[in-house]
Amino acid sequence: MLKIGSLKLEFPCLLAPMAGVSDLPFRLVMRSFGAPFAFTEMIDVNSLCHKDKRTIRMISSIPEDRPLGIQLLSNDEEQIAKSFEIINKYAFDLVDFNAACPAAKVVRKGKGAALLRDTSRLKKILKAVVQHSEAPVTVKIRTGWDDGSVNAREVSLYAEDAGVSAICIHGRTKVQGYSGTVNYDAIKGVKHAVNIPVIASGDNTSVLQIKRMIDETGCDGVAIARGALGNPWIFRELKRFFKEGIFYETPNIDERIDVMKIHLQQSIQYWGEKRGVASFHKFFIWYTRGFRGIKPFRDIVFRISRADELFNTIESLKFAYLA
Ligand SMILES: Cc1cc2nc3c(=O)[nH]c(=O)nc-3n(C[C@H](O)[C@H](O)[C@H](O)COP(=O)(O)O)c2cc1C
Repeated sequence: MLKIGSLKLEFPCLLAPMAGVSDLPFRLVMRSFGAPFAFTEMIDVNSLCHKDKRTIRMISSIPEDRPLGIQLLSNDEEQIAKSFEIINKYAFDLVDFNAACPAAKVVRKGKGAALLRDTSRLKKILKAVVQHSEAPVTVKIRTGWDDGSVNAREVSLYAEDAGVSAICIHGRTKVQGYSGTVNYDAIKGVKHAVNIPVIASGDNTSVLQIKRMIDETGCDGVAIARGALGNPWIFRELKRFFKEGIFYETPNIDERIDVMKIHLQQSIQYWGEKRGVASFHKFFIWYTRGFRGIKPFRDIVFRISRADELFNTIESLKFAYLA
């Protein structure tokens, strides 16, 4: 079990926040396979304060989508204070503050990973988040800005001092982005430095990799990001691993196809036909990773805009791959 403030999770695996991916349909599919916790997509506090329609939609949920965390992006304490008038009404189970996003348009404005270079500013901001949030607060960091300035330990101590309930750390620097080696030692250093739970992220793509992450860093929990793309079964495997110590077999093609159809259905129900189908294109690629000779199907799928056509194409995979 993992405890973050008042939040308790039956096994220590969180669905990581993923911008452009973690919409309600995606979260519900992951939960149907046992994901014990999920985050919204990253929410810019500025857009939230302006009650931007798209942003309000991104934080909307349903009772089955619990426990749920929101992830915030900001560098402005006043806006943070204002945003909690809205956030607290939604009664999130956790509030995560992003000091990890490496995107140029984010960093340029002094947000996301830029805050790793200004630890006293980050501490002030985290204090504001903790002060206004009714839910436990966590912070998402990276190991540092670049190889020459790995400072996750120092950042974590500042964050703990500001009152956060756990540290989420992606074991790469801002400059590494999403590739290159995960720095297990830096995560281990954070774990040794603080007295709050540490949730580790980075290449958590299989039960074996996750076991390695826990064994080598001593982290209290893990966040699953790319490992969940087209692979909700990872949560079924993890649940069995943590509860019974055994590895579960991977799904067969039949099950993959059925889950694709359920995901597509949810996507259409939530977004409407046009957007639901368009949004599913990327998931089709992820679900069919490793399918031999899939390229012609992918080419077809990318041209499809109607729901019935996409359902039929997914169903036709059965004939192509089960024959
Ligand atoms: C498509 C995508 C979107 C992401 N968006 C966010 C985000 O909004 N907030 C965040 O903290 N991390 C985000 N991440 C980073 C992941 O949460 C995770 O820390 C990172 O991918 C490392 O884990 P992995 O190597 O297991 O994928 C994103 C990652 C991906 C692949």
